[in-house]
Amino acid sequence: MKKLQSILLALAFMALPFSADAQSLSPSTKWHWNEGTIVIDNPVRPAGQKSVLQLALPKMELVRVGFVGLGMRGEPAVERYTEIYGTQIVALCDFVPERAENCQKYLRKKNLPPAAIYSGEFGYKALCERPDIDLVYVAADWEHHFPIAKYALEQGKNVAIEVPSAMNLEQCWELINLAEAKQLHCMILENCCYDWYEMTALNMAQQGVFGEVIRAAGAYIHTLEPFWDIYWKNPTEKEQLGWRLYYNRHSRGDIYATHGMGPVAQVMNIHRGDQIKTLVAMDTKSVIGKELVEQRTGKPCEEFRNGDQTTTLMRTANGHVIEIEHNTMTPQPYNRIHTLTGTKGYATKYPVEHYSLSKEQLNAVGVQSDERISYHDFLPEKAHKALEDKYRHPILVKFGEKALEVGGHGGMDYIMDSRLVYCLQNGLPLDMDVYDLAEWSCLAELGSLSMDHNCAAVEFPDFTRGHCFDIKDGFRHAFAPVAEEVKTEARAKALTQAQVDATKKFDLWTLYDATKTGTDKVRKAFDKAMTKAQALIK
Ligand SMILES: NC(=O)c1ccc[n+]([C@@H]2O[C@H](COP(=O)([O-])OP(=O)(O)OC[C@H]3O[C@@H](n4cnc5c(N)ncnc54)[C@H](O)[C@@H]3O)[C@@H](O)[C@H]2O)c1
Repeated sequence: MKKLQSILLALAFMALPFSADAQSLSPSTKWHWNEGTIVIDNPVRPAGQKSVLQLALPKMELVRVGFVGLGMRGEPAVERYTEIYGTQIVALCDFVPERAENCQKYLRKKNLPPAAIYSGEFGYKALCERPDIDLVYVAADWEHHFPIAKYALEQGKNVAIEVPSAMNLEQCWELINLAEAKQLHCMILENCCYDWYEMTALNMAQQGVFGEVIRAAGAYIHTLEPFWDIYWKNPTEKEQLGWRLYYNRHSRGDIYATHGMGPVAQVMNIHRGDQIKTLVAMDTKSVIGKELVEQRTGKPCEEFRNGDQTTTLMRTANGHVIEIEHNTMTPQPYNRIHTLTGTKGYATKYPVEHYSLSKEQLNAVGVQSDERISYHDFLPEKAHKALEDKYRHPILVKFGEKALEVGGHGGMDYIMDSRLVYCLQNGLPLDMDVYDLAEWSCLAELGSLSMDHNCAAVEFPDFTRGHCFDIKDGFRHAFAPVAEEVKTEARAKALTQAQVDATKKFDLWTLYDATKTGTDKVRKAFDKAMTKAQALIK
């Protein structure tokens, strides 16, 4: 009997994916039917726990950052942070030690102090335990976003997590609860909210250029053919598909919704005067996905959970509709769609950026034109440019020029990082809070529930637990008064200069190089010099 039990246990274990977290369906989600709608039992807010809506923390003059996950996405993030005044890259961590070490080159190039290196599956724990880190920046694979972010929050650190930041509802709720319990920032790193067209159109929408925006669409349509084989391969994954293909194979729903969802959710004022109430999803069968697995394993692939294209539709309390698409499989041009349908105008980004307004509306929003204008057509070139010039977003005005120099998806990555640091340095609420993180990341599990039940309607959880209508004037970016901003920037510049001066004064890089081959004595000399250097960074 005992023998049979252990055989059954072993079989059950083999049937499990390499981590139980791997799927978009949470192990703990409970739901019931209500008149044909799937209603999820959401956790109540623990007594005494406060919302983090509009959370503002004391100003951080120097933002001390630890990076975890330094692959294709994390490495350039480190380089970008060397361009942002008033930050210090304190620690670098990757599963693969060489990847962490490789990023030191960006610090060395700028004469900034060397960072501490961590590696291995759990190297992030020691990084999070450091008392000299304010922000843990997570750019690991999807499987690791949650354990790293959870540990960082538990250690009292603010976190910023690459997209999607949580893989299922259980993870969304745990991050919300931790952020609320600890009153810390837990931000989704949704860079597409900072792209030129999205920001300009958002500014227009906020100022009524399109009237009431009643429908918005977004997408992530990007064939990942050139990338599947270069994603990191977890050594414990049996078939060595790489984390992303593995995840697609085992998870249904829009598992990468946030690039499309983030920018339109901001236009729609989600949880700032509106609330998503209902979601339905539908996907195609998997054709390419299965082929990708078969090509790599040489065996038939019976099940591939993610459809080649997934469509998710949502309706809000104010009667607006959001449509999000996901397709990383079929060959077609890159497309995030981004269309805004308003009662007085229309905006669309792909394949060519356009706006459409009547002549009367164009005049009413402060743009004159002698061109022939009709809302049956897109605005002609001169009127398009005049409209964009008038409604250029102040964040683009502030960070745009340097963003073009530094780059990162055309500069939007730099703008996102700069805004995060700006808000922390000025003690302001962040542009994206933990409720955004949950609302944009949960499409995977909600869509999965919908499609696994014949595309049924699913009630969308209120992650704010009763605060969706507290903010009356819609989504707005926070800004410091100009005089404050100038003071903060000068201080930030001085703090970066102090790092450069200290690095030179104590010859930190020569000492660091010596530790690679040196004895304990050399290591101690380096540590001592780092302590002295750190004392000068103030
Ligand atoms: N916002 C964007 O435009 C954008 C673009 C690309 C990727 N991403 C996101 O960035 C993340 C990383 O993607 P990528 O393309 O860099 O993948 P990647 O495979 O190149 O890198 C993942 C890295 O995580 C590391 N890692 C794995 N387990 C770890 C652990 N326990 N501790 C520390 N590091 C660990 C791996 O060693 C690898 O270096 C993903 O979430 C992805 O969705 C976002």
